[in-house]
This record gives sequence, C-alpha cells and structure tokens, in this order.
Amino acid sequence: MLPKPRPVLARRLVVVSNRLPAERGKSSTGGLAVAVQAALEQSGGIWFGWSGHIGEAGAPPHIVDTGRLSYATVDLTRQDYEEYYNGFANRVLWPLFHFRSGLVEFRRPDLAGYLRVNRHFAASLAPMLTPGDLVWVHDYHLIPFARELRSLGIEQPIGFFLHTPFPPVELLRVLPNHRDLMEAMCQYDLVGFQTEGDLQGYRDYLVRELGAKDLGGGRLLAMGRLIRAEVYPIGIDVDVVAENALAAGSSRLTRRLLESLRDRDLIIGVDRLDYSKGLLARFEAFEKLIEIYPETRGHVTLMQIAPPTRSEVPEYLEIRRTLEAAAGHINGRFAEFDWTPLRYLNKTFNQRTLAGFFRASRIGLVTPLRDGMNLVAKEWVASQDPNDPGVLVLSCFAGAAAELTEALIVNPVDRLAITEAMQHGLTMPLVERQERWGAMMKTLRRNDLTAWRENYVRDLGAISAGK
Ligand code: F6P
Repeated sequence: MLPKPRPVLARRLVVVSNRLPAERGKSSTGGLAVAVQAALEQSGGIWFGWSGHIGEAGAPPHIVDTGRLSYATVDLTRQDYEEYYNGFANRVLWPLFHFRSGLVEFRRPDLAGYLRVNRHFAASLAPMLTPGDLVWVHDYHLIPFARELRSLGIEQPIGFFLHTPFPPVELLRVLPNHRDLMEAMCQYDLVGFQTEGDLQGYRDYLVRELGAKDLGGGRLLAMGRLIRAEVYPIGIDVDVVAENALAAGSSRLTRRLLESLRDRDLIIGVDRLDYSKGLLARFEAFEKLIEIYPETRGHVTLMQIAPPTRSEVPEYLEIRRTLEAAAGHINGRFAEFDWTPLRYLNKTFNQRTLAGFFRASRIGLVTPLRDGMNLVAKEWVASQDPNDPGVLVLSCFAGAAAELTEALIVNPVDRLAITEAMQHGLTMPLVERQERWGAMMKTLRRNDLTAWRENYVRDLGAISAGK
C-alpha cells in the first residue's frame, strides 16, 4: 500500500457493483454487498449497480436517497441477465477465477452481452459523475467498466477491487478474449486484490502477456498507463459482529437451536450454494467423522446453511441436486430416531441470527475449494464467546487463511484432513482454543472493514491528488 499521508475523505465516493443489497439499508448475503454497505454507510456517497430486477431496455436509473447515501440502480433486460450475469460472468469468469476451467462454458453471445451491459452501465452512471468523485468499481462483472467510462470522456482516476481470486497466467489464457479483457482492465488506476497470490497472478499477466514494466512499489507501466496494484484484504466490523453475537446469543432463535441440540456439539457451515465452496467434500468429511470416531455418534451435529444462488445456471442446479443426495445419504445411513447428524438448510438468515448460531457452535467449518476472502470465517471468529470460544477449521484456499493462521488450516482436497481437523477441534482444550481465538481477533481488529475502506480510498485519493 502507498505510504502516508492519510487525507481525510473530502471527495464523494461513488461505488459501482453488480449486486446491491436486496432491501436498501438492510444487510444481505454475499460478502461484497455486506462489506460495501458498511463502507458506504461510514463515508456516504452513491452506490450504483443492477437493481436485481428484470425490466425494459433503456429505462433511466432508479434513484433512492437515504440522506448520506444514494442508491442508483438500473434493471437488466432478460437477455442482458442471461448473457451478462448467468452467462459470461457466472459461467466463464466465475469458474475460471475459481480455478475450475473444466466448468467454463464460453459463448460469444454471452461475451457480447457482458460488454454491452458494461457499456450500458457506464452510460447510465456517467451523467451523475463530477470530476472530483472517487469512483470505485467492484468485482469481475465489471472489468471493462473503466474502458467504457473513458470512452465517454471520464478522465479521473478509477479504482477496481476484485473480491474473487485472480487466476495464474496459464489459467487466464483459457479465456478466448483474455487479452482484450486485460487490456480493458488497464484503464483502472488502482487495482486491489484480496491476497498476495491474486496480485501476483495479475502482475505476471501484465508483464508476460502485455509487456508491462514492473516499476516496483506496486506500480506497473502497462498499455501506456501507470497502474497501481496492491493487496487490501477485506475485513469485517468486529465490534458490530461481536455485539450482534452477544445479543443474539440469548435470542429466541438461538435458544431454540440450543434446545434442539440437547448438549450436542454443533459444527456449523454457512455458504452460498456454490460449487466453489467445497460442500460435497465437507459432507463426506463429516460422514467420515461419524464413521471413524464412533464417540461422535449422537453427540455431534453438522448444520450447513446454504442459501441457493444463481439458480438458473446449470452448474448450480447440479451442485444442488448432488448435495441433496449426499445429505439424504448421510442421514439415511446414520440418523437415529432422536438424532439427525446433518441439518441441511437452503435458507437465508440475517446476519444477527447467524452471529447467534455461530456463538452456539463448537466448530466453524469453512472449507472452500477456492475463495477470494470468505467473510464467514471472520464473522464466525468475531461471534465467539471469549470465555469459551470454538475452533475454526479453514481451507488453505480461502483468502482468509493468509490472515487467520491460528485456525486449523486444511487442504479440502484431502477429505480426511477435514475429518481430522473436526475431531481435533472437538477435543481441543479450552486454553488452546482461547489462545488461537485471541490471536485471530487481534488480526481481525487490525485488518477490519474500516482499514480496508480507508486504505483503499486513501490510495485512490492520493492518485487523484497527484493528477
Ligand atoms: O464476492 C463474489 C460475489 O460474486 C459478489 O460479487 C456477490 O455479492 C456475491 O458473490 C454473491 O453473488 P451473486 O451476486 O451472484 O448472488
């Protein structure tokens, strides 16, 4: 990150992302919307993006003012939604950026739709911009967005933050239009990533494929432009989560959960229903736990909360069917008349309720096959009771593993490693649990949501000031 000074934010922040919260001002699922909501509440500004609705082509943005914060949203046509969102963003970029090239379904009309929606979004936002605005664009849906703004005469610095992983060069080359997409990405002035590994992939691509010069200190000269590329690990508002957890710990829903558990240890997982989350491996690892450690039978429950997402994309339909079968198999094999080993819920809960559930659990199970950061891991830690914290089992392929090194880190490709970590967590003495938890809390406080936003906005502001 750039060195000090740290200017106070005098400019208006304009955030652009595909996803906005479903209900303005309310929390929602999906790391991006939750984090951006909190960041914008702190700073004020405009949040521009897709309304989440299908509508007519060419309708003007819908604007909702809530005082410090304005939401400006546009609808997508059915065709836009199919090609841009279901198609290129979620059947090409998403699997590729999560290292699943075998799942990539590339179609030229989808690419055309992706570029068209970026153009349309830029044309809708451009009239709202003033030259002093700090424009901060988020995620893989909007990689060509800056190029579209530039073509409309917008010259000020534009920032981009990628919430997902960024793939290594050879994987990115699977994308037929990789060069055009990455050239478009060079129209951003500050590019932020979750981890060093992601930054490395981006830098390698620019140097190897676009002939960029690495000037050191996070600066790259590419396509005739000076670009800064840095790591900004996204964080959470630790105190808010901890307070939620404390309050929800004695709420009606948490009490009902605890009563239903009858002193059994709870292992909890909360993930969007996505193949990148490694849920099948997690189920299989849990099945092994109750198979090879008979003392866990009747004494441990895994509750997996998995709200459905991107339900019209075939790969998501398939993972849903697979998990239903796996859950049925495990319960069919091991359930007793008074014990259901696996509770599998395709439902969304609000953050406060989840915080209460996290606090009631002995193990937080976060084992994605690949994940940009995974804020559930961080929220789970912040929700724990300091006097009796649980144990986090965390995939080495989640961005959060770079920070939460005191978790039990596992490679989810090895199912038995997850099984053993669960058993280790269930039997870990209190003192060790407290030590690990305390160390993770320190990290969470250091790299919290405010630090993420302030560091990024400070660096973008410094670029703007230098122009
Ligand atoms: O962080 C990755 C991300 O795609 C975010 O952009 C989004 O908020 C979240 O996952 C949920 O995905 P979707 O918006 O497709 O439901």
